[in-house]
Amino acid sequence: MTGPREFDLVLQGATGFTGRLAAEELRSCAPSSLRWAVAGRCPERVHALARKLDVQGLVADGLDRSAVGALAARTRVVLSCAGPFTRWGSLLVAACVEEGVHYADLTGELPWMETLIDRHHEDCVERGIAIVPASGFDSVPTDLGVQALVTELGQAVPIHGFFTLQGGLNGGTLHSGLALAEDGSPPTTPSRPIFPLPVLDRWAAPFLMAPVNERVVGRSAEMMAGVQSGYGPSFLYREHLLTRGRAGAWGMATLLKSANRMLASPSGRWLLRRFGPKPGEGPSERAIRMGFANLVLLAGPLNDPIAIRRWAWDGDPGNQITVRCLVQTGLALAAGEALRGGVLTPASALGSSLFNRLQDSGAVREGASGSGAVGISAPVGATIH
Ligand SMILES: NC(=O)c1ccc[n+]([C@@H]2O[C@H](COP(=O)([O-])OP(=O)(O)OC[C@H]3O[C@@H](n4cnc5c(N)ncnc54)[C@H](OP(=O)(O)O)[C@@H]3O)[C@@H](O)[C@H]2O)c1
Repeated sequence: MTGPREFDLVLQGATGFTGRLAAEELRSCAPSSLRWAVAGRCPERVHALARKLDVQGLVADGLDRSAVGALAARTRVVLSCAGPFTRWGSLLVAACVEEGVHYADLTGELPWMETLIDRHHEDCVERGIAIVPASGFDSVPTDLGVQALVTELGQAVPIHGFFTLQGGLNGGTLHSGLALAEDGSPPTTPSRPIFPLPVLDRWAAPFLMAPVNERVVGRSAEMMAGVQSGYGPSFLYREHLLTRGRAGAWGMATLLKSANRMLASPSGRWLLRRFGPKPGEGPSERAIRMGFANLVLLAGPLNDPIAIRRWAWDGDPGNQITVRCLVQTGLALAAGEALRGGVLTPASALGSSLFNRLQDSGAVREGASGSGAVGISAPVGATIH
């Protein structure tokens, strides 16, 4: 980074649904010494938000190379909620790399993450710049939970993660999935069989976000191999949704197959665009508050695990949990806690310091949240039990 910067942190995409929540989260938990600003593409909306929060507002369209370059040149850290990232994210990341700025975002768009690795990883390693995609619900809870268990065990054993969730679906998330499908990326949810899990008295079903979370954990393992015992060539992570019984597991598997089919077909995508939530929309405040995500991690054989750990995250996964993860990632980067440079994962970029921040701030605790109910991300504000 060249010379002193005007801001410690700039939040791009601050006028979107998660962006506004992230801006409020920053206002409530950033240290008073942090010099931060909000940014977005629309001057009126950015300045209105900036006035409300009493911070500076910067205008930068993600497709305007010089505008994102100017934004990156003014700060030490960029957080971005401007997605689909495959559409609006690439120039901003390139500008951050050029200006030597740490960066984190909310993407779950795997092909785009692979592009960032190809384009920027080596350069960032050399220059100590941390680029941390997937710093929301995908994939912070999984990546940090697995890393904590790997650290505790100190040996490479297979780990399986099982989520129970309650939450809603943002228009931005739906439209990021649609953008990927339109770009020809096949739906990536694995068509794995459902199976009983007697050790938890539950059934397991395929999980929508498993491909992203498994890839992120796999990359953490690649990055940490040789640095941290427990990751290594024989390490394996698999992720599932947990349901009460066989019928629930079958229902979830069927629902996912249908969603994948819809995303894969032009008429299905038309229906999702027409009737699904629009960009800028998301669950109600109440639904955001009532949401939760419980992650159970099992190490070793599923029928006789050597360790079981439970992590409870309060709030809607795609919103409250997501913005808490993103904001604490940004604060950790701004505090100089990045462990290395590269196009990284939450665990390889910040590891236990981020997990400690999230626990200290009350975002996550050991145990289980909610009623133990089994829910899934559902149309805005709804829960499926
Ligand atoms: N990792 C996770 O767990 C997780 C959870 C939730 C969301 N997400 C992802 O986060 C992203 C945002 O979600 P959301 O619900 O907040 O969506 P949203 O409400 O539609 O917000 C999208 C943001 O992108 C901005 N934008 C649009 N075009 C732009 C451009 N040309 N240049 C710069 N910014 C532009 C929008 O600006 P305007 O306000 O001016 O329209 C808005 O701020 C999505 O990609 C979603 O998939 C991830």
